[in-house]
Amino acid sequence: MCGIVGYIGTRAAADILMEGLRKLEYRGYDSAGIATVLEGEILCIRAKGKLQNLQDKLDGVDNPARLGIGHTRWATHGKPEEYNAHPHLDNHGRVAVVQNGIIENYRDLRETLKQQGHRFISDTDTEVVPHLIASYLHQLEQTGATPSGRSVLLEAVRLASQDLQGAFALAVISADFADELVVVRQQAPLVIGFGQGEFFCASDTPAIVPYTRAVLPLENGELASLTPLGVEIYSFSGDRLRKHPLTLNWNPIMVEKQGFRHFMLKEIYEQPGVVRTALETYIDSNWSPNHNNASPIHLNLPTPLLEDLEQVQIVACGTSWHAGLVGKYLIEQLAGLPTLVQYASEFRYSPTPLTRHTLTIGVTQSGETADTLAALEMEQNRRRDRQDAAFAPRLLGITNRPESSLARLVPAIIDTHAGLEIGVAATKTFTAQVMAFYFLALDLAYRRQTLSPQALETMLMGLHQLPAQIEQILESQERYIEELAHDFSDTQDFIYLGRGINFPIALEGALKLKEISYIHAEGYPAGEMKHGPIALLDARVPVVAVAMPGGVYDKVLSNAQEAKARDALLIGVVSAEDREAPEVFDQVLPVPPVDELLSPIVAVIPLQLLAYHIAARRGLDVDQPRNLAKSVTVE
Ligand code: AGP
Repeated sequence: MCGIVGYIGTRAAADILMEGLRKLEYRGYDSAGIATVLEGEILCIRAKGKLQNLQDKLDGVDNPARLGIGHTRWATHGKPEEYNAHPHLDNHGRVAVVQNGIIENYRDLRETLKQQGHRFISDTDTEVVPHLIASYLHQLEQTGATPSGRSVLLEAVRLASQDLQGAFALAVISADFADELVVVRQQAPLVIGFGQGEFFCASDTPAIVPYTRAVLPLENGELASLTPLGVEIYSFSGDRLRKHPLTLNWNPIMVEKQGFRHFMLKEIYEQPGVVRTALETYIDSNWSPNHNNASPIHLNLPTPLLEDLEQVQIVACGTSWHAGLVGKYLIEQLAGLPTLVQYASEFRYSPTPLTRHTLTIGVTQSGETADTLAALEMEQNRRRDRQDAAFAPRLLGITNRPESSLARLVPAIIDTHAGLEIGVAATKTFTAQVMAFYFLALDLAYRRQTLSPQALETMLMGLHQLPAQIEQILESQERYIEELAHDFSDTQDFIYLGRGINFPIALEGALKLKEISYIHAEGYPAGEMKHGPIALLDARVPVVAVAMPGGVYDKVLSNAQEAKARDALLIGVVSAEDREAPEVFDQVLPVPPVDELLSPIVAVIPLQLLAYHIAARRGLDVDQPRNLAKSVTVE
């Protein structure tokens, strides 16, 4: 949700800021802007809409400034118009600020500032920040109070930050401090990059990795002053903090499309590799059921986290929540542990009663989703307050970003190693999250002895077949699905059905379609259809059913027949060996035959392709669908 960048160094800041914003455009694309400091003045240029509009305005402007900040916006307060675009300035144009997050008390601050003579020109919450900072700068100048060791600009930003309530990351420059960039983090991500004589800041690392892999994520309640001489970090209370950067292990090439038309398609095609990496990372290839004195799964989690568990609860949003639903099925079926799956945004305000010996898993590919982080924090606090060992917090994260806020909040994570995902619609990170749940469920099953060594070996063999099976689907199905997508140029509604472990796949198929094609799509448990949604069906509403072999296969087929009787066009994701299903469905999307427990991974691939091709066929912006952002860092 909104991307911010900043640069101070020896190169032309505007180019670096624009390059950084390009890498962060997935976080929002309602408007964009940059501000630079040159010869004692701030030059601020902003444009409504996509980044290209800003680039068009910048073309031909000679700007050698070496200090600047930039922003790409996902509108929260105020319409996506240029006057609401960041950076925002104080009335004298001496302070410029970009922000990610929400300032909750901005109305009160605005009123107070107005009474002091400040004038506001935007509808945003952010605009109070440069005014506040300017006001503190003025006070510091008047009183001559020079804070011990801290720069005047940092001090003004620190005092302003103490007045702000909500979640915010800020980057601040001033025309009066030509050699300083100040950044702040409070409940919204902010990373500092350390180059040679140059420093960067950004909401996310892709904006920084082209220049350096040495990064330092700020923690909540911290701010930093970046000057050509180095970086100084302070707490909001003014204490100097000593910190060391960490080194990222991924490279800039991951942020390119590599010949694919869209990032989403590239990421769909990366899934065999993602699954292979997960298997290589977490499964001991030498394990055998005959010499089974250790678990074949190596998650490297602290032992007390998983000991004597009585319950598991999963909190997540969106696609990660769907992965959690598959996880519930796996943990319950394989390890026999009751498992609840909660929307993080619901759980944080209506938590379930505390249960004993409970593992709480936060699933978030970005590791920055505000609701998921807040739900985990709330769970941690209420369990600590209980002061009873049986209720002590046991938190685990499943994330694709080991450097994220989630990874720093919880004591242990499973890193999904999917590589950076740029497309707003999650594809490979979903598959990777489901893989993490296979490993966790099998590890728990091993520890709790709920699965025989032979059954465990069979599951492992099945998991190892998945990369080749996904490749086979991509090779054999993509053309066909691309053709099929032509049939839905005017379709306005879709229904997706699934049962058991494939009910979440129906939800995921529907979510993929609606978020990138803007077609209304509902995922439903197939057996529930007759309790309401069946009323929607007629010849204009296609029904996609996941009908993989297993305990509910016949039931799903019957539910599909019920839809067919209402004239719906039926599309089935079925096993390639199924001879019965093609009789029932109008179109089949065959996938290799797999064990029912493994079927979500193969079933989701044709649904991702279907959503992709329907949206691409409509000429839509698949990677940056309207109103969405990749990383949802506000409530
Ligand atoms: C997925 O296609 C969506 N864009 C969205 O639902 C996403 O999964 C959700 O916002 C959660 O994100 P997270 O995994 O980074 O927490």
